[in-house]
Amino acid sequence: MGEAIYPVPAEWAENALIDDARYTAMYQQSVSDPDAFWATEAQRIDWIKPFTKVKNTSYHAGDFGIRWFEDGTLNLSANALDRHLATRGDQIAILWEPDSPDEAERRITYRELHEMVCRFANVLKDQGVARGDRVTIYLPMVPEAAVAMLACARVGAIHSIVFAGFSPEALAGRVEDCGSRIVITADEGLRGGKKVPLKKNVDAAAAHAPGIEKVIVLKRTGGDVPMVAGRDIDWHTACAAASPENTPEEMNAEDPLFILYTSGSTGKPKGVLHTTGGYSVWVSATHQYVFDYRPGQIYWCAADVGWVTGHSYLIYGPLLNGGTTLMFEGVPNYPDPSRFWQVVDKYQVEIFYGAPTALRALMREGDEWVKKTSRASLRVLGSVGEPINPEAWEWYHKVVGEGRCPIVDTWWQTETGGTMITPLPGATALKPGSASRPFFGVQPLLLDNDGTIMEGPGDGCLVIADSWPGQMRGVWGDAERFFQTYFTTFAGYYFTGDGCRRDEDGYYWITGRIDDVINVSGHRMGTAEIESALVAHEHVAEAAVVGMPHEIKGQGIYAYVTCNADVEPDEALRKELIAWVRREIGPIATPDVIQFAPGLPKTRSGKIMRRILRKIAENDVGNLGDTSTLADPSVVDHLLANRPQLA
Ligand code: PRX
Repeated sequence: MGEAIYPVPAEWAENALIDDARYTAMYQQSVSDPDAFWATEAQRIDWIKPFTKVKNTSYHAGDFGIRWFEDGTLNLSANALDRHLATRGDQIAILWEPDSPDEAERRITYRELHEMVCRFANVLKDQGVARGDRVTIYLPMVPEAAVAMLACARVGAIHSIVFAGFSPEALAGRVEDCGSRIVITADEGLRGGKKVPLKKNVDAAAAHAPGIEKVIVLKRTGGDVPMVAGRDIDWHTACAAASPENTPEEMNAEDPLFILYTSGSTGKPKGVLHTTGGYSVWVSATHQYVFDYRPGQIYWCAADVGWVTGHSYLIYGPLLNGGTTLMFEGVPNYPDPSRFWQVVDKYQVEIFYGAPTALRALMREGDEWVKKTSRASLRVLGSVGEPINPEAWEWYHKVVGEGRCPIVDTWWQTETGGTMITPLPGATALKPGSASRPFFGVQPLLLDNDGTIMEGPGDGCLVIADSWPGQMRGVWGDAERFFQTYFTTFAGYYFTGDGCRRDEDGYYWITGRIDDVINVSGHRMGTAEIESALVAHEHVAEAAVVGMPHEIKGQGIYAYVTCNADVEPDEALRKELIAWVRREIGPIATPDVIQFAPGLPKTRSGKIMRRILRKIAENDVGNLGDTSTLADPSVVDHLLANRPQLA
């Protein structure tokens, strides 16, 4: 294909934890003898009661089940904090860079973090939080988000973080679904100089979520937020009064650790459930090997704590590994497009892990913003969340990394808990745009549409043949949905929902979702969710949402809307619908295009032909494929003739 290849630099091959030969040997063992491989890797965790069984998994109906280290016990918070105190109590655990460069940063040592977590764990216990209870966290990017997570893990409660950009409606739905009595929030968040009314959103959510009994409120901006007597608790006051000592709960490896809601092709977002033991081993191992991480190195994952990347690689992975993790409250272009790289210089960041969408936006601002910073501390660059186009990859490599830093393009999902397909910096020759080879224990396969395994190079549906320790264990409250969603499309395999190409070197190239999920700026959105928000508007009769190519966001949101017969759609309604969707779901679901249409293309049995809608949104109208099964072909002519002018 003539694509560029970047060999492993010699000094990397010599000094890295894993070189190519070691990768091959370890990968071999990980798939031929997973029990032995993972029993060894699991020693990175301090178990209270050691496990005697490693892997006990089946993807088949009848004996379906996923259990790892099932008779072992541990506490994740103790592994992320207590066990480091003797050797690295005074090392910085969390470096916090605020939204504004003029505000003071925070440097929190392991000892300080441990005390904060113990105090907050006691606050939770005082509020009656016990093992297995669900706690919703709706916090901005502040160290207290990590404190809240670790405190839940410490007392055995299951946290459910809701991204602070979600609307009150979306928050209420998630609170109700998992039945949490407690929400942890802040007065306001701060992003790019703008305030986000978090407490106000929680108050609004509480109107739809009567199950909320207590709201713990952290002061971030000091904004004037009314407190509800008897319900709202001030974080600082409660922590100051709590004991700084707390004994972690002994948890079983398969006890739930967290729920994280994510979008699927149908229905409401589902609560992806992760458990304790396997997840800990998985995020620790992947974080160490993928970034060639050594304890104490300054590491920055730019993802928000509200997404899985924030869970696994901002908080849990680095802290399990005794790392120094940098948390940045702000955005890449505030106050100007140099900010990321200024932060790199300020803290001498060695490893930077970010999303292609941010890189594309920064690339557009020009190289000067990067070049006026040093970035000499950088060793490894990571990419996550969506395909990185070769142009952005080359820019990241040449301009940001000055040709010096390996790029790890990590493919994974909320469901996988951690990285699945990725280069290792000392082992893998890089091809821009390819996530390259499987991590230890991961057995990717490509299937054709009939479910036949494809050998050698080709393009197919990406499935995983066997379980890995960080795999999700269920959909909260809906056991059947887990099996149905992931294990029935191709019986006996975990179906990722992604399409993928494998080249002649066995490298994997993710081509994007093949279901009705779109990836907007690395954020996963179900088209069905946006459609149901649209049809909830009084003037809308029907809506269909598809992805469209977008230079910065990767994919944009293209909505076809049919209004009720008595409504004349106009510019004002278009604006109103955009505002409506933002309110129903959140700004990340803002439609880029709304095309009003008197009808949508449907088969005679009434099924919307999304294939045609996608082609129109992609501006690929020369080849609409077979339209003979349409109930009314003139609908398509109308759609084509009335496409909005795209900027
Ligand atoms: O389509 C893939 C894409 O993001 C989806 C998972 O989204 P989410 O669960 O929100 O997790 C994002 C953070 C891990 C995948 O099904 N995706 C993720 N990473 C990559 C990617 N596509 C291509 N290359 C990647 N490196």
